[in-house]
Amino acid sequence: MKSVNPILRWAGGKRRLAPKLRLLMPSVWNRYIEPMAGSAALFFYVAPDQAILADLNPDLINFYVVLRDDCAHLIGRLSHMRASRKSYYQMRELKPRSKLDRAVRFAYLNRLSWNGLYRVNKEGKFNSLLKLRMKTSLNQSTRH
Ligand SMILES: C[S@@+](CC[C@H](N)C(=O)[O-])C[C@H]1O[C@@H](n2cnc3c(N)ncnc32)[C@H](O)[C@@H]1O
Repeated sequence: MKSVNPILRWAGGKRRLAPKLRLLMPSVWNRYIEPMAGSAALFFYVAPDQAILADLNPDLINFYVVLRDDCAHLIGRLSHMRASRKSYYQMRELKPRSKLDRAVRFAYLNRLSWNGLYRVNKEGKFNSLLKLRMKTSLNQSTRH
């Protein structure tokens, strides 16, 4: 498969390091496993046919599952959303139940939060702030 950029912004993401990390990998391997995937920058760079991705963050994993299994609906929903301070803080308050709604909220907040930071309080409530300079479209490529 062809290399692609990571979809998510993620603190500690390895997007810029991915080409160097790739050189450290063996030329042949049986199975690609990334136990702390985050934005999975190396995975997207290597683009293996099969992989196992894991992470402690259930919202992150739900996002990838929906991206894999229901990509058209996910993109369709996101493409109709506008970026604004008001909608960011409204979205932050929501507690969606369905996998698709959770993935939409996760992607929306990831794109607009400060540094792409996923931060929760003691109650597990997402509380990252909005980034300061904000594009009004969600269709900007990631730089993290
Ligand atoms: C620095 S980020 C990984 C960055 C990733 N290499 C990338 O390119 O985005 C670390 C990730 O490890 C996850 N993590 C931390 N402790 C973990 C654990 N004990 N088991 C699984 N995932 C864990 C976090 O949720 C976070 O997504």
